[in-house]
Amino acid sequence: MIYLNGKFMPIEDACIPVLDRGFIFGDGVYEVIPAYSRKLFRLAEHLDRLQHSLDGIRLKNPFQNEEWKTILEQIIAQNEGDDQYIYLHITRGVAKRDHAFPVNVPPTVFIMSNPLLPPPSELLASGASAITALDNRWIRCDVKAISLLPNVLLRQLAADVRALETVLIRDGFLTEGAASNIFIVKDKVLLAPPKSHLMLPGITYDVVLELAASNQIPHEIREITESEVRNADEILLTSSTKEIMPITLLDNKPVGSGKPGEIFARLHTLYQHYKATQMRGQLA
Ligand code: PDD
Repeated sequence: MIYLNGKFMPIEDACIPVLDRGFIFGDGVYEVIPAYSRKLFRLAEHLDRLQHSLDGIRLKNPFQNEEWKTILEQIIAQNEGDDQYIYLHITRGVAKRDHAFPVNVPPTVFIMSNPLLPPPSELLASGASAITALDNRWIRCDVKAISLLPNVLLRQLAADVRALETVLIRDGFLTEGAASNIFIVKDKVLLAPPKSHLMLPGITYDVVLELAASNQIPHEIREITESEVRNADEILLTSSTKEIMPITLLDNKPVGSGKPGEIFARLHTLYQHYKATQMRGQLA
């Protein structure tokens, strides 16, 4: 069951007009929110980021946070699986094709849910492979825009060589992945690129840094050069759907020992534990 403009319906019955500005211009923003045991994970943070994205494209938020919560909980209740991920998508609505904003046009609001499967344990045990590419996206990557053509093309470069992700380098520095945030580890220190308009402020990124801080894992937030990425002891990928994963092969060369490292193992365990306590807290 999906939600479209005020109504719940089976996805097969959902239609949008061809003049929707999401379809014509990619004029909209989105969020991906995980739910574990049918409880939304870090909802407040996801809704704050949604507001930041809406502000970034000058589109009014169609709902208050409490209204979002009610609708998202209804979607979760109507779909199968205890662990799901919500995809929510808002466009500037339906109007005659003209680049400038239409006046008095209601936004299109679409929400769906899919089963959320953790990364396979074999992949966590072996680590994933990634490639690098130049980050050729626009310079508002902090906005979670639905116009994802550059990300799609960059991710496909990885898919073409059966790698999991494309690690992006802009002006000699690490930004993020095509659909994830990237951390490195050097000499037992976890390094994260600083948030800026050149990367999406990941919700999982924040969780990982909080876990590092509260568990005495040495960490630093600073610019990371391409050569530091290439000489890292560990590379980690984070996202709401992939959680935290080790990258053990970069551009066909082993990362560090070529096996998932110690910091990955610690953070992965801490993340699973954190998820479980969050969900228990919400149930209490
Ligand atoms: N993508 N950077 C980019 C470009 C992303 O698309 C994503 C997530 C992230 C990680 O953010 P978070 O931890 O909040 O999921 C970073 C989602 C999952 C997607 O587009 O499907």
